Amino acid sequence: MSRSAHPAGPRHADVLPEGHYIAPATDLNVLDEKVWSRTVTRDQDGALTVGGIEVARLAEEFGTPAYFLDESDFRARCRAWADAFGPDADVFYAGKAFLSRAVVRWLTEEGLNLDVCSGGELTTALDAGMPADRIAFHGNNKTVAEIERAVEAGVGRIVLDSFQEIVRVSHTAQRLGKRQRVQIRVTVGVEAHTHEFIATAHEDQKFGIALADGQAAEAVRRALTLDGLELIGIHSHIGSQIFDMAGFEVSARRVVQLLAAVRDEHGVELPEIDLGGGLGIAYTSEDDPREPHEIAKALSDIVTRECESAGLATPRISVEPGRAIVGPTAFTLYEVGTIKPLEGLRTYVSVDGGMSDNIRTALYDAEYSVALVSRSSDAEPMLVRVVGKHCESGDIVVKDAFLPADLAPGDLIAVPATGAYCRSMASNYNHALRPPVVAVRDGRARVIVRRETEEDLLRLDVG
Ligand code: LLP
Repeated sequence: MSRSAHPAGPRHADVLPEGHYIAPATDLNVLDEKVWSRTVTRDQDGALTVGGIEVARLAEEFGTPAYFLDESDFRARCRAWADAFGPDADVFYAGKAFLSRAVVRWLTEEGLNLDVCSGGELTTALDAGMPADRIAFHGNNKTVAEIERAVEAGVGRIVLDSFQEIVRVSHTAQRLGKRQRVQIRVTVGVEAHTHEFIATAHEDQKFGIALADGQAAEAVRRALTLDGLELIGIHSHIGSQIFDMAGFEVSARRVVQLLAAVRDEHGVELPEIDLGGGLGIAYTSEDDPREPHEIAKALSDIVTRECESAGLATPRISVEPGRAIVGPTAFTLYEVGTIKPLEGLRTYVSVDGGMSDNIRTALYDAEYSVALVSRSSDAEPMLVRVVGKHCESGDIVVKDAFLPADLAPGDLIAVPATGAYCRSMASNYNHALRPPVVAVRDGRARVIVRRETEEDLLRLDVG
């Protein structure tokens, strides 16, 4: 995915077809700050530390594979987003990237709102004390039971995704004697430059209601007539892992045009627009993400400009970053199990996890980097593919990378930038036990999601 946004850099270009390679110019012992969380450092022996704790100690205490989440980095990113958008806008963390009770508490304390897209995420949010009015409820096929719970709980907004849902939410709200604040999710017809599976603004896909053929205007018409709904705005999410702001600009422009059309037809100025999430992060050194303040400025400039030219008051803007907040804050720690050099090709390094803890490489062709983190090494770089222990040759964690040629079983290696969509998309394939998430901060580490056990597996198996 990162490759589609950026041309292949030297790390890839230098891999020659015959399998020979030119060693990377960078010292493998030096960590690229861009892809590691902020408190990660290397001590004098080359061992990686996070939050002041050495990885060997973490591995001993919590085992591998495991995700280590840098809590102060997470909180700092929350604050950076909130500060960048300021008091006149709202930042909703997209819980699908990674959600747990601890994360909900951090978000609550740092003043962020939360986007949930299932009953399970809603339960986690409410259970951990996120005020319901700071929650947005999403999804293209929310069940009636989910809608009821969301309305009953008093969520701040439900994002309507279909004509059926407009009616369902209104009826539910009326039945419960409430008027539900809602936004309508539209598809703006933008081709986001990202992997097909995570692009969401083109018309031929399941999300949203199309702007182009007047469907979105019709949805607004219907929502405005229903007593159970208070239509507060329009929502657009164009996709994920996007670096180029052009797609957001087109999206903002088209959403503002719809606001103007609504004003002209109904005499109503909808007060809010939500431009979704999707901002890219650095998975490898080749990715160059933007800072939250640049993103905030670009979005607010375009909305202000478009509103001025349409004669509209500037609506309140909201955004929903998931990956950009949690993605860079965690790494996955693995132990090397077997090493298989394939003459003239590459060396396969098998770790104790794989596609069950990171499906993104197999699913989206995602790129990651990897480093030896339990020690330093002066050995020559060797071209490796880091693979898991699952019964499938597509079980690849890192497709192409360099590790020192003296790598040995028992070494610890870490894959950075795995905070988003790795634990949340983890599976039990081959009855793998999903790894724990350990939060590290100021020299202390604590489990926030525990490792699954074989008892957990058997507990569900009631046959
Ligand atoms: N808002 C809405 C309505 C969304 O559907 C999503 C992501 C987000 C916000 C947050 O997007 P983010 O800022 O995290 O990119 N599993 C895929 C990503 C799927 C994203 C689905 N929706 C992956 O691993 O890349």
